[in-house]
Amino acid sequence: MKKILFGLTSAAILTLSLAVQASPIKLKFSHVVAENTPKGQMANKFKALVDERLKGKVEVEIYPNGQLFGDNKVLEALLLGDVQLASPSLSKFKKYTKKLQIFDLPFLFNDMAAAERFQQSPEGQALLKTVEKKGLIGLGYMHNGMKQLSASKPLHVPADAKGLKFRIMSSDVLAKQFEAVGATPLKKPYSEVFTLLQTKAIDGQENTWSNIRSKKFYEVQPYITSSDHGLLDYMVVTSAEFWNGLPDDVRTELKKALDEAVAFGNKVAAEKAMSDKQAIIDSKRTTVIELKPEERAKWVAAMKPVWDDFKDIVGEDNLKAAIDANKE
Ligand code: SIN
Repeated sequence: MKKILFGLTSAAILTLSLAVQASPIKLKFSHVVAENTPKGQMANKFKALVDERLKGKVEVEIYPNGQLFGDNKVLEALLLGDVQLASPSLSKFKKYTKKLQIFDLPFLFNDMAAAERFQQSPEGQALLKTVEKKGLIGLGYMHNGMKQLSASKPLHVPADAKGLKFRIMSSDVLAKQFEAVGATPLKKPYSEVFTLLQTKAIDGQENTWSNIRSKKFYEVQPYITSSDHGLLDYMVVTSAEFWNGLPDDVRTELKKALDEAVAFGNKVAAEKAMSDKQAIIDSKRTTVIELKPEERAKWVAAMKPVWDDFKDIVGEDNLKAAIDANKE
């Protein structure tokens, strides 16, 4: 048997072993957020659909809350075959492609409909493929929502953020964005944010309403500025080795289930952006600041110059397509 297997690619060995073994294919899906978030609910929906449609053929195991891997390790784990599905934030792909940094540019999308239009455009779809040279396959985008700024003091204008320390995801665009307002960015894993805020090791962070609520950041941040200054979306990703080694019918069925689960997750994201904001306001644990138009204009003026540093990296054509996506 060893002699026969010698010389075959690992994808071929996977196919062969799937054919000879009747046992179901195990698919581990690892993510860092809570189960009641858009991504958590998308993952659970995917499992439910696969359980129903591929019973006995595929077994999905979901690992939420970074139980298995944090986002800094999960893409490596995919390539090693330790997990088969993940959906990190688009801000966490820097080691695999620099092009996705476009999604971090501050004030690029006016709203989620514009982000959706760009993601579905030829340019947006081509960006999914930029991870392929590293052995990953981008199966699609998924929404979370627009990010808000939370802090230990009220942030009305950029000058209010001067000198404060903000946790950011591992993105150079996000680092520049905070430096542009005189703040200090610190790249830290999601799992550490609550403790860093609680112990006052950092002064603030940026995230979506659903993440701020589900991880209770609002309980340790007295102010949240409703800034909608950037996007937090995901790429659902697998490894080429796993995906291409699947039997065709299973791969087709998994992709269908995933597309349905993502559509469901996107609906949850749209609902939660409003309901989680309201729940945070109702909790009275924090003050939510609504920006006046002239205050918002100051944030735009301070942060938008960051685009110039990244336009060659993300591609001028991509940038133009993203800007155009703001027009209906
Ligand atoms: C996530 O939504 O997956 C985590 C975002 C973060 O790291 O802030």
